[in-house]
Amino acid sequence: MSNYHIKHLEEYYQVYRKSVRNPEVFWEEIAEEHFLWRKKWDKVLSWDFKKPKVKWFEGAELNITENCIDRHLYTRGDKTAIIFEPNNKEDEAEHITYKQLHERVCRFANVLLDKGIKKGDRVCIYLPMIPELAIATLACARIGAIHSVVFAGFSSTALATRINDSECKMVITSDGSYRGPKTIDLKGIVDEALEDCTTIESVLVAKRINSDVQMKADRDYWLQPLLDDAYSDCVPEIMKAEDPLFILYTSGSTGKPKGMVHTTAGYMVYTAYTFKNVFQYTENDVYWCTADIGWITGHSYIVYGPLCNGATTVMFEGVPSYPDFGRFWEIVEKHKVNQFYTAPTAIRALAKEGIDHLEKHNLSSIKVLGTVGEPINEEAWHWYDDNVGKKKAPIVDTWWQTETGGIMISPIAFATPTKPTYATLPFIGVQPALMDEKGTEIKGNQVDGRLCIKFPWPSMARTIWGNHQRYKETYFSAYDNMYFTGDGALRDEVGYYRITGRVDDVIIVSGHNLGTAPIEDAINEHPAVAESAIVGFPHDVKGNALYGYVTLKETGESRNHDNLRKEINQLITEQIGPIAKLNKIQFTNGLPKTRSGKIMRRILRKIACNETDQLGDTSTLLNPEVVQDIMDNVL
Ligand code: PRX
Repeated sequence: MSNYHIKHLEEYYQVYRKSVRNPEVFWEEIAEEHFLWRKKWDKVLSWDFKKPKVKWFEGAELNITENCIDRHLYTRGDKTAIIFEPNNKEDEAEHITYKQLHERVCRFANVLLDKGIKKGDRVCIYLPMIPELAIATLACARIGAIHSVVFAGFSSTALATRINDSECKMVITSDGSYRGPKTIDLKGIVDEALEDCTTIESVLVAKRINSDVQMKADRDYWLQPLLDDAYSDCVPEIMKAEDPLFILYTSGSTGKPKGMVHTTAGYMVYTAYTFKNVFQYTENDVYWCTADIGWITGHSYIVYGPLCNGATTVMFEGVPSYPDFGRFWEIVEKHKVNQFYTAPTAIRALAKEGIDHLEKHNLSSIKVLGTVGEPINEEAWHWYDDNVGKKKAPIVDTWWQTETGGIMISPIAFATPTKPTYATLPFIGVQPALMDEKGTEIKGNQVDGRLCIKFPWPSMARTIWGNHQRYKETYFSAYDNMYFTGDGALRDEVGYYRITGRVDDVIIVSGHNLGTAPIEDAINEHPAVAESAIVGFPHDVKGNALYGYVTLKETGESRNHDNLRKEINQLITEQIGPIAKLNKIQFTNGLPKTRSGKIMRRILRKIACNETDQLGDTSTLLNPEVVQDIMDNVL
């Protein structure tokens, strides 16, 4: 018997030891007993972090949707797979059974085939959190098309960049979306993006808000009539273990977004296994992850991980504050949610509203609470524990990344004793290492360093789409033979990990990864701007907010600074999306630079964080005089 379901701490340690002593035997057992394969693998793992090249279950053949849907049809056909909770509270929730999901995915897959999409083609999905989003994703996987889901809060420029980078053939979108009291013109955004894209042959449009949209002849098609006409069964494409399943873009500290490529078999095995254990999902539980499927959390822990386990997974279209801050708790009560997984930024926003909203609802169904996306501060952790979990529901603080595909460091609910702000222990098979700046591993406990992973795990991204060299440089060059996460971490006296935050120029705002470079590029496009630098500073709800230092060109004309601030944020909204807007913009006479001309963000960060007593020696700067000037005018 394999160790598919771990229930106790001793069992965790025992299985963990097995997984690192003999990873191949361990993962082979898990894969063999709990998944549906069309052909077994020839080799469980081959790897070389120098190239870097990693292959799991090579030679195996499968289709992930058979694992997520078909295999449940006999045992769970009438069980709810997806509960869709709409934006408007008055609208009825939709319960989609596994049988219905099968039919809807098959119909959608047939529409894709009919529109000329083949195995290996890239399909961009730009949809709100409506059932079609999950269904379109699975339909791509059904026929072996590579989905690239783009979060529907991104701007047309950001969408176009992503479509072009992976040369998508199709976009799936909707007429518009609801977001709390607002509607957003998604189709208009797509139309704008497509002015700069040459590879798109067709656009499928789901009706959501019934708005008037322009439909371009021979390119744009309403989805529903096509689905109605499509055949309700679709033979799954048989995929090789290492065939790409999807591309998902994430921000880097420099350059354009990185299209992380995830492959089929390893991703499936790892997301399913982590889901089962971290959340201790048991049959008939209702599980709700509040993330958007546009992010990795939604891919792995709304769609693939839960469905692979035959779970009931909730998809919520709206926002936590609409119609009021009681919405999450109302949904928990209504659907009797057992596992609730959200982000620290949401917890802080809800905590700010007090507990009146919570007290109006019966939350007794909650068994496990989860958090992800950024470090959770102690106050938010306790608020969550005391008021939502009533001190009875363990909090799983799950640390992982778009690149890791699945949860890497986290408690296993009920097995691992939790500790506020700690992600605790490595998950089964994960071998973390803390490194010093010279590249030596820091052994022992009560230490801190840069977090790396020493050994491959099944769901790691295999490359960056179209740029393997960048993949190597970003993740495998900082330390010899290790995957570098970009995060700092400390290890306490019992070996628990606490993630301390990014050590590069990525800033996490409301749980969203934002690279400083693309934002600075957007600002620098303003005709009045000479140069700019972005840093993060602490924010009580967002975790971090963005502080921009902007130097203007010397044109002689004086510009209204408030207008300029608006224009700069407008540019950022257009180029990236509203999530990247700056909270503060300070106009400066110059930016502190090293003698080689590199902007010293460390100094700017200290100033923005009001830590000017820790500036250190600034005399070696090229232009030390600007530092005082910036400090005198700080916002
Ligand atoms: O800095 C870490 C932070 O989020 C980064 C990854 O972001 P992304 O690829 O968008 O994926 C987020 C969802 C998996 C990490 O490098 N992060 C994520 N989870 C945690 C975290 N920081 C602290 N604690 C966490 N639980």
